[in-house]
Amino acid sequence: MVRHFLGLFGLIVLTLALASWGQDRILAAYGSADAGEQALTRATMLAVAQQLAAVPAGQRREFVAAFAARSGVDLELMPTRDVAGLAKLGQLAHDGVVSLQDVQGQSWSLLKAGDDDVLVLRAKQGSAPRTRLDWWLTALFYGVIALVLMVWLWPVARDLRALEGAVAKFGDRNWVFRTDIRPRSQIHALSSAFHRMTTRIDALIASHKDMSHAVSHEIRTPLSRMQFSLALAQDSANPGEAQQYLDAIKSDLEAIDRLVTATLEYAILERAEFSLNLATYDFRTLIPALAQQVAAHARADISITTDVSPDASAVRCDMHLLDTLLRNLLHNALRFARSRIRVTFAVRDGMNELSVADDGPGIPEPDRLRVFDSFVQLDRAADRKSGFGLGLAIVRRVMEWHGGSVSAGESALGGALFTARWPVISGQ
Ligand SMILES: Nc1ncnc2c1ncn2[C@@H]1O[C@H](COP(=O)(O)OP(=O)(O)O)[C@@H](O)[C@H]1O
Ligand SMILES: [Mg+2]
Repeated sequence: MVRHFLGLFGLIVLTLALASWGQDRILAAYGSADAGEQALTRATMLAVAQQLAAVPAGQRREFVAAFAARSGVDLELMPTRDVAGLAKLGQLAHDGVVSLQDVQGQSWSLLKAGDDDVLVLRAKQGSAPRTRLDWWLTALFYGVIALVLMVWLWPVARDLRALEGAVAKFGDRNWVFRTDIRPRSQIHALSSAFHRMTTRIDALIASHKDMSHAVSHEIRTPLSRMQFSLALAQDSANPGEAQQYLDAIKSDLEAIDRLVTATLEYAILERAEFSLNLATYDFRTLIPALAQQVAAHARADISITTDVSPDASAVRCDMHLLDTLLRNLLHNALRFARSRIRVTFAVRDGMNELSVADDGPGIPEPDRLRVFDSFVQLDRAADRKSGFGLGLAIVRRVMEWHGGSVSAGESALGGALFTARWPVISGQ
């Protein structure tokens, strides 16, 4: 950190120093002396020249020297022929102050005084030598820059280090990403992006763990049952009895097949490169038709009613996924309902809202989030053959792919209420 800071500070100071040195050089080379200074020089020289007129010719040089000594101005009276740059002498005749510059960067102001003499005022061009105060001010200037940089950089560097630590820890298979980077930090957006990424990775790892765990468990049970049935079938002398065992094996095989199908269906939705197949559908006819189809295989004592709002004539969605979603919700409802199931669809506040309500036992409040996790079944013992706890996980994924969400609650009928919401997609 200190190394980074010093590096940046050095770079900035060097750049500033180079820039200001360059500026000085450019001004010295092309800039003219300040206009006020020129006028002052001219006035001084004209005043001295005027006084000289009254001084006898022999004493003029001493008079100027004495004036120079008194005033501290580098003034001298020189014979015209001693002055270099005679090209300018033509101009001198016209009684004006002429400026020349010598090789050492000194500026000479010349004024003709009498016939043979020239009054010369020499001034150092450019800035005056630096005083101690100048040095202190320069040091203060760079000190302030260092301070400002430090105030700005230090928290950023600290937060970056915290982020680096958190990412490294996450990478060390800790799978927990925790930083205390405050919302005001410059890198808060970066850290939130990391947080979202790691949450997703964490969820993926957890779901894969669950999946392999559940799959192995769900397969092992029917497998051992099959081994048992097979051994019994081999030993049985009675063909009718053997057939019974073979039927049991067949039903276990079907269970495994169903598991594999459900797992694959879910795994496809988990994939990152999944793409939606969007089109526009008339839900006013589609939803009742679908409900009818499911109801055909349902218990006779259950009635399914549908209520689709009249403005649902053009709903944009991936119908294959929506079909899966509704079937999953309906199959669950059919399993738990006592006599009534109600499917409703409406477009509200820019959201499509599809819900399935039943009059069964409902979902206990503490489980209303958990039921959407993969392989979660609340009634495992009582209802073994119903599925693998993937139905609601699939429902949730379908909604996520549509940019929406799903929630569980309590229905007006007294049982469970599942509501899927997704934004009205443009083109609808
Ligand atoms: N309509 C419902 N009423 C009561 N409980 C429900 C309902 N729908 C789902 N559940 C509970 O949520 C659990 C998860 O459902 P789901 O993911 O579809 O798995 P599965 O149907 O394979 O058991 C079910 O095991 C059940 O306990
Ligand atoms: Mg289900």
